[in-house]
Amino acid sequence: MSDTSQRRGLYVKTWGCQMNVYDSVRMVDMLRPLGWRPVDSADAADMIVLNTCHIREKATEKLYSELGRLRADKEASGRKLLVAVTGCVAQAEGDEILRRAPVVDLVVGPQSYHRLPELIARTTREAGVKLVDTDFPADSKFDLLPQETEGQGTLAMLAVQEGCDKFCSFCVVPYTRGAESSRPAADVIAEAKRLLATGAREIVLLGQNVNAYHGTGPDGRTWNLARLLREVADLGVERLRYMTSHPRDMDDELIQAHRDIAALMPFLHLPVQSGSDQILNVMNRQHSAADYLRIIDKLRAARADLALSSDFIVGHPGETSADFDATMRLVEQVGFAAAYSFKYSTRPGTPAAALGMHIEESVKDERLARLQDAIARGASAFNQTTVGKVVPVLFDGAGRRPGQMHGRTPWLQAVHVTGPARLIGQIADVRIDAAHANSVSGTVVTADAVEAA
Ligand code: 5AD
Ligand code: SF4
Repeated sequence: MSDTSQRRGLYVKTWGCQMNVYDSVRMVDMLRPLGWRPVDSADAADMIVLNTCHIREKATEKLYSELGRLRADKEASGRKLLVAVTGCVAQAEGDEILRRAPVVDLVVGPQSYHRLPELIARTTREAGVKLVDTDFPADSKFDLLPQETEGQGTLAMLAVQEGCDKFCSFCVVPYTRGAESSRPAADVIAEAKRLLATGAREIVLLGQNVNAYHGTGPDGRTWNLARLLREVADLGVERLRYMTSHPRDMDDELIQAHRDIAALMPFLHLPVQSGSDQILNVMNRQHSAADYLRIIDKLRAARADLALSSDFIVGHPGETSADFDATMRLVEQVGFAAAYSFKYSTRPGTPAAALGMHIEESVKDERLARLQDAIARGASAFNQTTVGKVVPVLFDGAGRRPGQMHGRTPWLQAVHVTGPARLIGQIADVRIDAAHANSVSGTVVTADAVEAA
């Protein structure tokens, strides 16, 4: 086992989705009892974990440039340093990482990071040994991970589901994260209780395809996400969210949960990817643009103030300008409060990579700029609708300017106010005074918070 008599510095750098952020939290938590203490910079670390993302080519390039920098640093300082690459690039590239980047000691996939302690111990014992573990073990890593030792604070993430069976043409997730699987509901509830006991006021249920959740309930029946949300809400959490969802799994019971569960925040991230039926079909999305709009209508009927966000890909193989126009129309029709948009990036091994009909980079650039413009207009129009309202804001940290605090509205807008640090961790009423491109600013009006200021 590791030498626990000495506390050593652990630096974790995370790229990509919320699931990776959650995995990083769990890794730190798991290594803490073994003497590893998180540090804020790579310079102060004895071990560096790079928790990677493989979703787009750029994300992979970032890993290799980081490894290049690390190698130079390590050689210049001559210090001992353990370097582990985890996450989806580790899964997809395996040994190749060791070949391309000799500074790396460990390569560990997202389904096997519970084995990190054992792998670290081996590299320490057998100096110079390099190890790759990209298995998909039969047992879920969640069963094998130790319970969290520290809470996450006010805002907590909780993985309930992992992997994906949808096989969208462009996406690596089904290959890097594996088949869709749901954690048993009792485990989720137990973890939610621990998060609440350590101060969580908002919990985000996470999964690559979270609304496909179908875990075994304590009653032996299969629970869907709507049921799970009800049970977690009943534990007394004040704010509840879930991401990321697929339109196909947005069933009526889940839609009604947005009407019935008070703690469920009125914001939903529901990727559509394209507004063209032709492209949605090539993407293997299993829904049309009209299906998506119907779901949005139902959601808004259940919860009138629901704000929506989405993901879009421009320049998927075969996308014509008419297809792109359909995406632009859908954006106007829905009126998203926020959205992420990406240029299609070829991922080796995915069906789209073999399609041909690739779109010129300059065309992708031009489409992306137009789409991002429309999204930005929608976001600022949405932010504008909240000006003058008094809304509950959960404060989660200090802003960039002195005396400035940062929080989130129920619609996930970033809010800045001038106020005391004791706001952090509190939910206070804020009057929204102004809307900006990516945030709003306001004034705290909750009586005790104002007095304390
Ligand atoms: N190219 C560009 N964007 C992609 N995404 C997933 N795969 C690719 C790819 N190959 C986007 C999708 C997804 C988000 C997380 O990343 O929009 O919803
Ligand atoms: Fe990828 Fe599609 Fe699964 Fe989302 S639903 S993770 S885009 S394959």
